[in-house]
Amino acid sequence: MSQQPIICLIGLGYVGLPLAHAFAKKGYQVSGFDISEKRIGELKAGHDRTNELTDAQLKEVSIEYSTDPAMIENAEIVIVTVPTPVDAKNKPDLSPVESASHIAGKNLRKGAIVVYESTVYPGVTEDLCGPILEEESGMKCGEDFTLGYSPERINPGDKKHTVEHIVKIVAGQDEKTLNILADLYGSIITAGIHRAPSIKVAEMAKAIENAQRDLNIAYINEIAMLCNRIGIPTKDVLTAAGTKWNFLQFSPGLVGGHCIGVDPYYLVEKAEQLGMNTQLITAGRSVNEGIAPYVAEQVVKALTVAPVKASILVLGLTFKENVPDTRNSKVHDVIAALKKSGAAVKVHDPFVKPEDVAAMKHEHGTLADGPYDAVLLLVPHKQYMDLPLQELVQAVKPDGVLYDLKSLLDGEKVVKAGRKYLAL
Ligand SMILES: NC(=O)c1ccc[n+]([C@@H]2O[C@H](COP(=O)([O-])OP(=O)(O)OC[C@H]3O[C@@H](n4cnc5c(N)ncnc54)[C@H](O)[C@@H]3O)[C@@H](O)[C@H]2O)c1
Repeated sequence: MSQQPIICLIGLGYVGLPLAHAFAKKGYQVSGFDISEKRIGELKAGHDRTNELTDAQLKEVSIEYSTDPAMIENAEIVIVTVPTPVDAKNKPDLSPVESASHIAGKNLRKGAIVVYESTVYPGVTEDLCGPILEEESGMKCGEDFTLGYSPERINPGDKKHTVEHIVKIVAGQDEKTLNILADLYGSIITAGIHRAPSIKVAEMAKAIENAQRDLNIAYINEIAMLCNRIGIPTKDVLTAAGTKWNFLQFSPGLVGGHCIGVDPYYLVEKAEQLGMNTQLITAGRSVNEGIAPYVAEQVVKALTVAPVKASILVLGLTFKENVPDTRNSKVHDVIAALKKSGAAVKVHDPFVKPEDVAAMKHEHGTLADGPYDAVLLLVPHKQYMDLPLQELVQAVKPDGVLYDLKSLLDGEKVVKAGRKYLAL
């Protein structure tokens, strides 16, 4: 292993690209392989559609991007950052990790370390990926090449907690691998390195971080539904409870995206493999999966017209604010439930082009097309929060509903202006 090993990333999405950039900026020779021609094309053209890196940041480094896996052969360190989604039945879909392992194995150089960063359940790196690498490379794991695991903890759209500024958990198959990886990541991470005692510990640590967030939000979501039944604002209850030093600050919401709402299912799967039924993790998922239909139901009940006669505008389509990512967004589910009631639903998102909205089988609309029977602020993008409240209110018919999922608007002013104000 060289002093500054040659690195190849497999999968250049939200996780892989910023990591490639961080290593390249430190002077490492970095290449990036991705199966998507489109992604490689846009990176070569100097633009990152995920907005994690600016065009200027892409320009400041020299990274070789390619869809040709032959580039992996040069790498002393191969880092796998491919997606780990769930299928339609919420079962882990490990096919991208398997496929990346086949590709890496076919092109693996002797002595290389293969590090997985994708979120998985304990055992995937050593028991699933290791054997694939062995089979494809014809080499022996632990002798001719070794394995590492380092979970990624970045938060899309968060410009403060970037990869360099989050403590990095690092694990290796043996002491030597762990030392190399701790030094490697230590050279780019200013927040520090945590050496996990085993790969399985590191895999588990990542999965439980996100499952914990899912559960905390599920608890607050259940509390929100109870507050709504009682007829008191959830926000006021949380503000009052939050004055206690050890009350955990979480707010209700739609849990979408490809981490918090997905990773708990990886723990459920692992438990099932071992003959154990998860109760709390599963309950949390079930509460959070029920929020999108609940939001739609709240709105439909508050309409002053029959749902089939209602015109509704949904503001925000991405899975969270100020990011362009619409995958796994629970807003799709809210729209589907509203449409099921018969309402005509339009959608607007400053991060999503009208043609992309149409490609997702939604109808594009704007505040100016109003007034509507209901306007739902589901994703508080900065562009919406910067609008004068009056603009939102005027887009709602008198007696219509302004739904403020996260309780961020001044509800009293909305009511004074003659509109119904609802929040989760
Ligand atoms: N997005 C996040 O903020 C975040 C945070 C922490 C952890 N993670 C985890 O990191 C992993 C990657 O997530 P992401 O958000 O970067 O995904 P992503 O979808 O943004 O990017 C993945 C990239 O991998 C490519 N790809 C898919 N299969 C491939 C293969 N077989 N070979 C090569 N390239 C392949 C895709 O084309 C895509 O460009 C996942 O396990 C995720 O759970 C993500």
